[in-house]
Amino acid sequence: MSVRASLKLAILISGRGSNMSAILRAALAGEIAVEPAMVIADRSGAPGLASAAELGVPTAAWAGPARGEPFEPMLVRTLETVQPDAIALAGFMRILSPTLVGRYLGRMLNIHPSLLPAFRGLHTHRRVLAAGDTEHGASVHFVTPELDAGPIVLQSKVAVLPADTEATLAARVLATEHVIYPRVIGWLADGRLSFRSGAPWLDGRRLDAPIMEDFRASAVR
Ligand code: GRF
Repeated sequence: MSVRASLKLAILISGRGSNMSAILRAALAGEIAVEPAMVIADRSGAPGLASAAELGVPTAAWAGPARGEPFEPMLVRTLETVQPDAIALAGFMRILSPTLVGRYLGRMLNIHPSLLPAFRGLHTHRRVLAAGDTEHGASVHFVTPELDAGPIVLQSKVAVLPADTEATLAARVLATEHVIYPRVIGWLADGRLSFRSGAPWLDGRRLDAPIMEDFRASAVR
C-alpha cells in the first residue's frame, strides 16, 4: 500500500471562513491530500478561527496594531514555524508585500468572487448587478504581486437572475467557490498543478486559458 504524501497547507482568513471550512472538510475527509497545518487570521475576531478550532486545526491571529507588531512580520514568523508547502488565501482582505508573495510564488492561491479579469477588487456582486451582466462566477488563481491579477486556474460560472440581490447572487457564487477551491488545492497536492514560466500547468500542459466549470445547470446554485 502506498502512502499518499500530504501538502502542508496554511490558510489565511479575515472573516467568516466558509471557503476555509470547505478546504478543511475536504482535507479531513481525505478527499484531497492536504494536511491543514494552520489557519492564520489578520483579525483576532475572525469568525473562521472558531470553525477551524472546532475542526481541530491550529490557529493564530494577529493581535492588532495596538500590540506593536505590524501584521506581516507576525505572519512571516508564524509561517517560519509552520513551514507550509503552500498557502491558500480564503477571504483574506490584506495585500501582502511583493517580497512575501515572491517567496511563495507558485505555492500561494486565492479565490476571488468574479470572472477575472472582470471585477477585480471589492463589491464584485454589486458591480456585476449594476453592469447588468447575465453571467458571474468565481476564479481560483495563483497569487502574484498585482492584486487579483495572477494566472487563473479554474473558474465557476453561474447565471445572474433578474430577481437577484447582492445577497442572493453572492450565495450562488459562494456555493461554487466551495467546490472549485478545494478541487484546485487537491490538484496542487497531487502534483498535477504547477506554476512555471509565469503560467499554470495542469497534467503537463500549460493552461493558456482558465478552465471553466459551468454551474448554470447544476444543483450547486
Ligand atoms: C468569498 O466570496 C471569497 O471569494 C472572497 O471573500 C469571500 C470570503 O468568504 N475573497 P469566506 O470567508 O470564505 O466565507
